[in-house]
Amino acid sequence: MQYPANTLEHYWMPFTANRDFKADPRLVVRAEGVHYWNHRGERILDGSSGLFCSAAGHGRPEIAEAVAKQLLEMDFAAPFQMGHPAAFEVARRVAALTPGDLNHVFFVNSGSEAVDTALKIALAYASARGEGRRQRFVSRERAYHGVNVGGTSLSGIMKNREAFGALMPGVVHMRHTWLPENRFTKGQPAKGAELAEDLQRIAELVGGNTIAACFIEPIAGSTGILVPPKGYLERLREICDAHGILLVFDEVICGFGRTGKAFAAQSFGVTPDMITMAKALTNAAQPMGAVAVRDDIYDTVVDAAPEQSVELFHGYTYSGHPAACAAALATLDIYERENLFERAAEMSPYFLDSIFALEDMPGVTDIRGYGMIAGVDIAPGPVPGMRGYEATKRLFRAGLHVKFTGDCALVAPPLIAGKSDIDEICSILREVLGGMEE
Ligand SMILES: Cc1ncc(COP(=O)(O)O)c(C=O)c1O
Repeated sequence: MQYPANTLEHYWMPFTANRDFKADPRLVVRAEGVHYWNHRGERILDGSSGLFCSAAGHGRPEIAEAVAKQLLEMDFAAPFQMGHPAAFEVARRVAALTPGDLNHVFFVNSGSEAVDTALKIALAYASARGEGRRQRFVSRERAYHGVNVGGTSLSGIMKNREAFGALMPGVVHMRHTWLPENRFTKGQPAKGAELAEDLQRIAELVGGNTIAACFIEPIAGSTGILVPPKGYLERLREICDAHGILLVFDEVICGFGRTGKAFAAQSFGVTPDMITMAKALTNAAQPMGAVAVRDDIYDTVVDAAPEQSVELFHGYTYSGHPAACAAALATLDIYERENLFERAAEMSPYFLDSIFALEDMPGVTDIRGYGMIAGVDIAPGPVPGMRGYEATKRLFRAGLHVKFTGDCALVAPPLIAGKSDIDEICSILREVLGGMEE
């Protein structure tokens, strides 16, 4: 096959309709604050913080300078049996933000790697405790836990699974928490805590002592922002405790202020045994993820091995990469200096009120939201997801980037967004989604 010199064909784009995109590309070339600019110089408001990751806004010079300085000073340090100061410092800073005694932090390069790492830590913990039978995992329908084999197995979104065979054995799914009677609930829905009993039923079916961990997103993000019903997370915690099951919160989207606190665990007042995180950890300026674990998990796994021996046979060449650590430290400084988590909590009522005002639109079938994240469902067409895809393209042309999953708009502006930015997001949504109903 002969390709023209300026072809887009060689790049196989992820989670993208490649043929349609390449026929009419949506290219962005610059980003600053709450805006992108496309290759024609047109401004696009970022209604989804890139992919829920640029919490402090784009183009932060403090982060870019810290990364450049680090790369010039020391570009790379092998992370196995060797260390560099910044990795220890990021771990300390992250541990200071996590709830309870989640004081030990394992570095990875993405949310997907964080999830697969947490799966392995859960198995290693069970093994170190002499509970080798605990090899099962529980997750949830409509869950998204990244795309590695472990995370795909936990995932509850059919399209993300169907081409990939049987995946990992021993994963059981609870029901999701979307209930029709909770439509248009701002914040935590009143109904649905009883859905946590699915975990109890699974434990009774397979034996609670065969389950290593239960993975959930406190707010299920990629599926359309399902806020946990009141009492649901608390009940999951109780059931996990009763059966010795580790509770893992996948906070890849929720973490770092999206819910108005450092982690959703703190917003909802439920402390898990592990937290997976990524995205806003570096404000997305460098790829980085992490798993924070409780003292007992770290101590048990580490103490089970002889002193001179590697305790956990797991890690990545780029775990705790110096450039990523520099980006994380500069990012955490910004969050602290600009009180961005508190700002998110303060801005949340305005944000949610503005988004929920779209309720009167004919094509809008449900809205959910918490903190600085909301999902707006639009009525699907004959093929689910097609209207959402059409909306994505129309919104982009109208100057707004919003990530759709299927027929749900996932709205999550950078935490630096002002009221006028929120107003603009909502007015473009109203105009474009309204136009699709005509
Ligand atoms: C809850 C959750 N877990 C894991 C991931 C995967 O993260 P990544 O795309 O960085 O691998 C995502 C990504 O959106 C996510 O939302």
